[in-house]
Amino acid sequence: MNAVAAASALTVPICTTRSTKFTTKKGLKGGLRVFAVFGEGEGLVEKRGFGNATWGTIFDVEDPRPRTPQCKGKFLDVNQALEVARFDIQYLDWRARQDLLTIMLLHEKVVEVLNPLAREYKSIGTYKRELAELQQALAQAHKQVHISEARVSTALDKLAYMEQLVNDRLLKDKSATEADCTSEPATASSSPQVVKKKPPRKSLNVSGPVQPYHPRLKNFWYPVAFSSDLKDDTMVPIDCFEEPWVMFRGKDGKPGCVQNTCAHRACPLHLGSVNEGRIQCPYHGWEYSTDGKCEKMPSTRLLDVRIRSLPCLEQEGMIWIWPGDDPPSANIPSLLPPPGFRIHAEIVMELPVEHGLLLDNLLDLAHAPFTHTSTFAKGWSVPSLVKFLTPASGLQGYWDPYPIDMEFRPPCMVLSTIGISKPGKLEGQSTKQCSTHLHQLHVCLPSSRNKTRLLYRMSLDFAPVLQHIPFMDHLWRYFAEKVLNEDLRLVLGQQDRMLNGANVWNWPVSYDKLGVRYRLWRDAVEKGVKQLPFSKPMEGHVQ
Ligand code: FES
Ligand SMILES: [Fe+2]
Repeated sequence: MNAVAAASALTVPICTTRSTKFTTKKGLKGGLRVFAVFGEGEGLVEKRGFGNATWGTIFDVEDPRPRTPQCKGKFLDVNQALEVARFDIQYLDWRARQDLLTIMLLHEKVVEVLNPLAREYKSIGTYKRELAELQQALAQAHKQVHISEARVSTALDKLAYMEQLVNDRLLKDKSATEADCTSEPATASSSPQVVKKKPPRKSLNVSGPVQPYHPRLKNFWYPVAFSSDLKDDTMVPIDCFEEPWVMFRGKDGKPGCVQNTCAHRACPLHLGSVNEGRIQCPYHGWEYSTDGKCEKMPSTRLLDVRIRSLPCLEQEGMIWIWPGDDPPSANIPSLLPPPGFRIHAEIVMELPVEHGLLLDNLLDLAHAPFTHTSTFAKGWSVPSLVKFLTPASGLQGYWDPYPIDMEFRPPCMVLSTIGISKPGKLEGQSTKQCSTHLHQLHVCLPSSRNKTRLLYRMSLDFAPVLQHIPFMDHLWRYFAEKVLNEDLRLVLGQQDRMLNGANVWNWPVSYDKLGVRYRLWRDAVEKGVKQLPFSKPMEGHVQ
């Protein structure tokens, strides 16, 4: 055995102040104690002599053990412990490659031994002995693969647990800051928790009445409509951050977004019409171009008048606006499904709820077997444990035990990929194990403090023929509305309680992780934090 300190707490217990399935040690004040263990290095196969260059990229991975953090027996803070866990994963990746290489080499040897064209003559007895040895070696290698699998599973569990700790810490810090700022308790007086002596251990405070939107939340690109809904000479009126806007296409076909209020006497412009790329007020006929300039004033001398307009772009079948005062950023994220998917439905709904509540709902899957009992979760059992695992410590991850990947994409989007195996049974598989998938995009545009414009796009990587069935779009809308209505009555109820002062994030638990992260992200935006939590570089481009 190669005695290598793979600080890799590969099979390693991490001790914290909290009771966990890992060994517990009290009194460390939030520090983590990582017991380094000796990783196994035996059974490694020399890569030399492996003739198939095709596999080079798989096996040409540097052994990470020399770079292992030296932390045996030390107390680590959460970030250091996460670093150790990251090395664990690197080590396991490398180890799995070694296992695979071992098996491949052994298989090559089997083929070599059995090769009828081999020049070297061997007796039957020699063949039998060589094959028996190889079989034994293969059995050993397969055993090693199972060990590696178990280690990967342990390492992922450990990572998820540590992320939970980080979340707890963020929540605690936030609660502490709030306690410093106000003498009021974190939960509102109408909360059912006030009857308890101790306040909840961790708490976000999202209670009503809903405050006006913070201007910083406006400094993002927001998708507001599907391109297919904005035809030439038509208008799409929207509310965004409590202001009325209207979109239409200019003479060049490019979309524009102007305030939906005429400069003359405040008539809503969307009641008018679009002529030659200008929107015409229905009252006295004033006409505005997409940049808001009034270009025609019938029956009077043309004055220099302008209405507000917003930066407006079209990308990948959607119209985007920038409602903030800061200059627009250069990047618009891509919201398209992965290659291989086709878009089957694009649906817009106006819902009477605050957009944050709707996002909280969409980022939660644990409610499905209780709420969606007439639709997609019909017949689902209630798992003993539901987890949301986020390997990249970001705003995306996957649900366990459901084959569903999910992501919160700032500022107001939810992307999810659902593996479809057998109808009515989703548990126990990952999305990768499923051969067919449904991809969903939900955009929750904040129209006002009690109204959300929901854009829903649904894509499939199978059954393209469905696109050509007449009235299929009506059927998709029917399904989407049915699912949403199951949520809506609950979310409206929450909103009612919230407006009366209840905290809708009173007692988050582990499966609330993604929703909590969204709230932490939004809080950080509103506070003007420079490095937003869970942020990663945006993908995509601007035209
Ligand atoms: S109100 Fe619009 S032209 Fe008079
Ligand atoms: Fe739901």
